[in-house]
Amino acid sequence: MESRAESALDDRVRARVAHNLDLCAKEFTGYDRLAARHMFSEFHHLERIAVLAAERGDCIEGQLEDEYVHFETFRRLAERYGGVVEPCEEVSALIDYLTSLEGEASIAALNVTAESWLETVFHHVGRWGCCDEMMRIIESDEERHAALAMDLPKPPTEEIEPIMRRLEEHLENIAVAPAFMLPLIYFAGEKRVCRMGASIIRAHERACAHFGIESNTHRVRLLVRSQRMWANHKPTPVEMTEWDRTKMQLYPAGGDMTLWFQADVGRFNGYQLQAVIVGALSRILQRDSRLRYVTRRGQLWCAQEPIVAVRGLHDERAVMNVQIPGAHRTDWRGVLRQMNRRFKKARATRYKAVPRMPDGLAELIPPSRIAIAVNFNGGNGSAAGTGPLSNVEGIPALVTLGQVRDGKIVITLLMDHRTADGQDIDRLQQQLEREIAKEVEADLAERGGRVACKL
Ligand SMILES: [Fe+2]
Ligand SMILES: [Fe+2]
Repeated sequence: MESRAESALDDRVRARVAHNLDLCAKEFTGYDRLAARHMFSEFHHLERIAVLAAERGDCIEGQLEDEYVHFETFRRLAERYGGVVEPCEEVSALIDYLTSLEGEASIAALNVTAESWLETVFHHVGRWGCCDEMMRIIESDEERHAALAMDLPKPPTEEIEPIMRRLEEHLENIAVAPAFMLPLIYFAGEKRVCRMGASIIRAHERACAHFGIESNTHRVRLLVRSQRMWANHKPTPVEMTEWDRTKMQLYPAGGDMTLWFQADVGRFNGYQLQAVIVGALSRILQRDSRLRYVTRRGQLWCAQEPIVAVRGLHDERAVMNVQIPGAHRTDWRGVLRQMNRRFKKARATRYKAVPRMPDGLAELIPPSRIAIAVNFNGGNGSAAGTGPLSNVEGIPALVTLGQVRDGKIVITLLMDHRTADGQDIDRLQQQLEREIAKEVEADLAERGGRVACKL
């Protein structure tokens, strides 16, 4: 009897899955396929939580069947687009936590909170042009589950509160998990993903209010706010020439182009010079949009705001990039103050290691907003040289300063040949040389130095 019921369930599940797959007839190719593969894999893993929850206590009518359908639909889609990938660390951690829970309070947390998160995510994904109709069907199931879960008995505050605090930690971790977020950002763009983030915060607040506790989504809120701010300055794609396309074929992972020159630096020391050069580069990039090109996925983009970063040490060995936006709006002293402030702040936080990403996923990272980075090798005593460029970072140009010796410095430029040509690196060198000379002259005049002696 029971087995017949089970197979009837199987037949219904199979029919519903087939219907879902029919609705999702879209053929994803190239990067779309990569993004779809990862997105549906993660959804498939998340649905495992829902299946386990429904198996533990099928307290909402038809929930178990629905969850089997979702679980299986996403699995089949991930397979269609290249195969199910392992869940990312952050999703695994959430699954491990939720499956380790026992007791009534956890059932309530799963049904009210996890269901409302999923409902919100699917609601948004159903509007991005990837299998919209199918996503809306799944969303409507989740909407029903989350609504009916509100009628379940409410657990005591002291039991539900610690669970909700842990869930919030997981939500924060997933919000910054590249493997989970990159495919979503790829399909929707940052602005729409920010809207989704804001909706999840609201859904979570409603869940907390339902249980009579405060929500704590401060960090996710900050993240959404800063991402929204960045989304306004994101690089825009530029029309590529045959030569641009040829270079993408010639240098799929980037091609190094270098040039060095020596400059007189007057009385500036190495640290002051970093600020002088950050300011100069910011001004150069501001007026020369051709030097703001970055590359991603075989496409050239132009960074809207000229953002210069400074490579520096986080601790004794670990290197980080600190962004200095708006350096063209102030003088070198202002840039130096900003650099000191930002480095201090960055060093006070935990070092962020580059996350491990499955094959190819790094290509889904949005194009970099940083068009150029400054690196000071002089601190180690080097006279000249250059650090490397990384395709994952996506920063296409690096300016390396050697040690100041007898009022002179060697500056080495390194550019990615996919974004720049010989004439661009030459132009950058000439403009930088002029800007430095101007700053040195102004500084000497200010200090009453050699300018007067020239007469
Ligand atoms: Fe589900
Ligand atoms: Fe559900």
